Amino acid sequence: MSRILITGGAGYIGSHTALTLLGVGYDVVIVDNFSNSSPKAVDALSALALKETGKQFAFYEGDVCDGAFLRTVFEADKIEAIIHFAGLKAVGESVAIPAKYYDNNLRSTLTLLNTMKEFGVTGFVFSSSATVYSDPGVTKYDEATTRVGRASSPYGTTKVMQEWILEDTALSGEIPLKVISLRYFNPVGAHSSGEIGESPQGIPNNLTPFITQVAVGKREFLSVFGDDYPTPDGTCIRDYIHVTDLAEAHYLAVKRLLEVDDLPMFDAINIGSGNGYSVFEVISAFDRAVGKKIPYKVVARRGGDLAEFTAKTEKAKKLFGFTTKLTIDDMAKDAWNWQNKHPNGFDD
Ligand code: NAD
Ligand code: UFG
Repeated sequence: MSRILITGGAGYIGSHTALTLLGVGYDVVIVDNFSNSSPKAVDALSALALKETGKQFAFYEGDVCDGAFLRTVFEADKIEAIIHFAGLKAVGESVAIPAKYYDNNLRSTLTLLNTMKEFGVTGFVFSSSATVYSDPGVTKYDEATTRVGRASSPYGTTKVMQEWILEDTALSGEIPLKVISLRYFNPVGAHSSGEIGESPQGIPNNLTPFITQVAVGKREFLSVFGDDYPTPDGTCIRDYIHVTDLAEAHYLAVKRLLEVDDLPMFDAINIGSGNGYSVFEVISAFDRAVGKKIPYKVVARRGGDLAEFTAKTEKAKKLFGFTTKLTIDDMAKDAWNWQNKHPNGFDD
């Protein structure tokens, strides 16, 4: 069976994707330097993988920017395709220390490309983001028509630049590369077992980890960043996608790279549900999942937030049959189950 290298596989989305790939029979090799995860996450994934799939993965601790290290990984196992999750992703931190983000995110991609060239590996699935779209006034992002450009943060701009590096390299023919760039919308939720999930360090930046920390009593209340947006209830609308559905999208993308001839050198594909939920609607879903009201206060808008964006999803459906299966209530239930079972993330 094909062996897939998952960079950043100890992290939130990578760990769920590893489990999905093992479940469908792929062999998995994970590389992570634990800059935003921990060995305990690998232990939890290992135990869950054994229970759910009867399979294990190979794990290498190291930095994807380190070419010599990567070479040892490629020499040890014949890799047939890569999913590149490894990257720094904190939007606020990227505004404060942009060089760290450009260095890690761009150099990891360039180093991977060099190593792939050396070992003749051609399939590359990239973790991109809806943040690459830069088209004021558009709320339904379309791969074919919505403009991509300088993002609202250095983090987002690293995603734009990584896409351009991958596209230019693939089109040049310098490396026989096939790239699928998956532009995720808002990944949330956790595996239904509650054994792996999102484990942010410090104060969560994102909505749903903050809500679950309020629900479990670690924080007093949620701050809702503005209720005066031009949306039906005044709060921002996003396209939330369950991380298990997102993992399935990675499986389908890898399968396409391995099995379909005549693929474009570079394809960017939205991965969302196509449905939008407001912050108040997300809070209501958590009220139902937790069985009590989540306390919140409306505060000032957060700089840089857009009122509304959702995915146009037809391309993922047409190219590899991807549609989301899990609902906003599934997302809230599974996020809460993970937080409730592990109030301190992988530390308990
Ligand atoms: P995460 O931080 O949980 O996982 C990323 C993993 O990569 C971490 O385990 C980290 O230790 C590792 N890593 C970072 N730099 C590395 C390096 N140089 N070498 C080796 N390992 C390294 O993040 P996530 O939420 O799982 O996101 C995965 C990818 O998806 C990221 O590239 C992120 O930018 C992208 N993405 C995430 C979201 C989201 O909301 N979570 C949305 C769009 C795109
Ligand atoms: N929000 C709150 N309170 C909080 C946190 C968030 O009200 O404590 C609101 C935000 O204002 C926004 C919504 O909840 O309206 C969602 O916010 P998130 O931070 O969860 O998600 P974003 O849409 O801002 O950002 C996400 C990813 C980024 C990515 C971006 C665009 O976290 O990495 O989508 O794809 F760049």
